[in-house]
Amino acid sequence: MRILSGIQPSGSLHLGNYFGMMRPALQLQDQGEALYFIADYHALTTTRHADILRKNIREVALDFLAAGLDPKKTIFFRQSEIPAIGELSWILATLAPMGLLERCHSYKDKIAKGLPSSLGLFSYPVLMAADILAYESDLVPVGKDQKQHVEVARDLAVKMNEAYGPLFKLPEPSICEEVASIPGLDGAKMSKSYGNTIGLFLDESALRQQVMSIKTDSSSLESPKSTENSVILELYAHVASPADYQTMKERFQSGGVGYGTFKKELFEAIWNYFLPMRERRSQLLNNLDYVESTLAQGAERANAIAHALLEKVRSAVGLR
Ligand code: ADP
Ligand code: TRP
Repeated sequence: MRILSGIQPSGSLHLGNYFGMMRPALQLQDQGEALYFIADYHALTTTRHADILRKNIREVALDFLAAGLDPKKTIFFRQSEIPAIGELSWILATLAPMGLLERCHSYKDKIAKGLPSSLGLFSYPVLMAADILAYESDLVPVGKDQKQHVEVARDLAVKMNEAYGPLFKLPEPSICEEVASIPGLDGAKMSKSYGNTIGLFLDESALRQQVMSIKTDSSSLESPKSTENSVILELYAHVASPADYQTMKERFQSGGVGYGTFKKELFEAIWNYFLPMRERRSQLLNNLDYVESTLAQGAERANAIAHALLEKVRSAVGLR
């Protein structure tokens, strides 16, 4: 089984990215042949500063390796090192119905948030379909908001197969439902664009500050606290043991403990959960040559797969 996923290098990663996409993807490393990449072509749809993009690519590479991506098991690379993706994206675009792309939420959301529209932003799902189909992926672990894009990839694969014969495997999205949406500081979905994130590798005081700024209701210290839709409890569930989570839940219900105390405990739990990864990240930061060579070796292996598939496609459509 081949497993593929990508993440945009568009800033520091947050707990939503980690629990929604990275951790499930990393857990799948042992289930088949995994290919994980840094979607830097996609990031060009929203980033206009070369130095920032370069920095973000490095950061996300460090984050992924620190979080447990094992280059011995997984092919890890930069999307832009694979020339076949651009060509395949064009070939898929010639078959992609406008209506299908017009229905994509992510494009509509980005425009609604004031991003300038561009052909690149509009055809983002076609480029993503090229990523998915180029490696004949079976399973695509992504957060819930990317599910529609995997369905577009499936639709385009079906269209190509109908037009040119069996060329592409049909991919399946793999969404871990229990972490489908990690809430942010204000209770809405955690997202860079809502400014409500908790960073993955913050230093101690910045992390403490973010956790302490989680919005809570105005219940008094004595009164029982609602366990429904509590950001503190939802985040705690991911970083604490089931027993500690249960204890916190009971203390919410019994009252007599203020939100400040719960936030401090949440901060400690997040800090400890990511401690080994933080240490690995600082070792990697002192060994950037290793990071670069890992990405270069990954690109070589990914290129071999994507190039072979592209040759098949070129020949099927009549370019060979
Ligand atoms: P952001 O919303 O901060 O811009 P991205 O859209 O770059 O994040 O998401 C990168 C990956 O992380 C995607 O697979 C996405 O589904 C997942 N993800 C992002 N935020 C969350 C969240 N709050 N809960 C679960 N998964 C998330
Ligand atoms: N669009 C994805 C995101 O924003 C990143 C991505 C690009 C991707 N190509 C992909 C994810 C292919 C899975 C498969 O998170």
